Amino acid sequence: MWRGVILISCCLWTVSEAGAPCGLQMECVPKGLCKSGAWNQNLCQNSETCCHTSQMLVVGAPINCGRSNPNGLDPTAAVAADQAKPNQFPWTVALMQNMIDFFGAGTLVTENVVITAAHLVQDKTINDFVILGGAWDINQLYSKTIRLRTAARIVVHPGFSNITGINNIALIVLAISYEITPHIAPICWPTPGVSFDRERCLVAGWGKQNPLAKSYSHKQKRIELPVVSRSTCELLLRRTALGRNFQLDPSLLCAGGEKGRDACRGDGGSPLMCPILGQPTLYEFAGIVNGGLSCGQQNVPALYTNISHMRPWIEKQLNDELNKPYKTFPIYDISYD
Ligand SMILES: *[C@@H]1O[C@H](CO)[C@@H](O)[C@H](O)[C@H]1NC(C)=O
Ligand SMILES: *[C@@H]1O[C@H](CO)[C@@H](O)[C@H](O)[C@H]1NC(C)=O
Repeated sequence: MWRGVILISCCLWTVSEAGAPCGLQMECVPKGLCKSGAWNQNLCQNSETCCHTSQMLVVGAPINCGRSNPNGLDPTAAVAADQAKPNQFPWTVALMQNMIDFFGAGTLVTENVVITAAHLVQDKTINDFVILGGAWDINQLYSKTIRLRTAARIVVHPGFSNITGINNIALIVLAISYEITPHIAPICWPTPGVSFDRERCLVAGWGKQNPLAKSYSHKQKRIELPVVSRSTCELLLRRTALGRNFQLDPSLLCAGGEKGRDACRGDGGSPLMCPILGQPTLYEFAGIVNGGLSCGQQNVPALYTNISHMRPWIEKQLNDELNKPYKTFPIYDISYD
């Protein structure tokens, strides 16, 4: 009897190897790599969808990463000075629980992978939240530009500490990829070897405007701030409650420290993004909003997860057996027009 069960599972597995045919011009592909479909689902593994060849997504195609929309995509919207324009940063996604409760942001890095802070998702399952792409005003959930996705997998960094904030990173693999449009598109990887020291960069998210604000911001904020060198950051933070022995973990970087310009509560998981040298409207991914002592205090920079430092870990996750179908990231291609 047991032998029979094993036999069946063995042979189903063999039949439905990744890429197995499941009909005329149909193949089993990993969930997330099919734009629409689910026909002969019983011929595929659980993690796969039976997909018509016309509906398959090319994984990690070198899509044009990092293209912002400097004028926004809704000329009728009223935009305040400290707000992003509608869909200006098309990689910034909102994470919502109970469909309507915003709890943090994330950054789209491929058609189907969002990077966020581990502290936002460490206690969540894939059924606890949804991802909103193409959002600007998160009070307008019926906006035509919003595309909702669910998570297929959450990978939290095993070294994450919610006490020190080290390794504060998680990957969310989407159940269905985004179709890349001007409204929803991935950011670029940081150029290898670039340290963003003292560069002026941006954070875009829906956190509080200041520590006293009663609620999160409905419209996406845009905060300009400097990246602070490691040595300066340690010196500044040793003067705070963190104490004289504070040392900046290699997984962290510092930014901010200017009065009134800072990430704040609710900005967790949002991207810290820097314009690519010589290409002021193209952005690369420098950090993830992680934590801080308060918001907007002069000479008290906040902590971000350093994406360059995390890149080997991220790539390993996306290249291991389980995640193979999800691998590859857009890389900034210097030959852009
Ligand atoms: C930190 O993580 C532990 C273990 O997952 C959890 O029990 C605890 O509630 C977390 N603390 C905070 C402040 O999130
Ligand atoms: C981020 O990490 C990279 C790689 O470890 C390092 O070279 C860079 O200096 C770090 N950036 C900052 C601003 O600390």
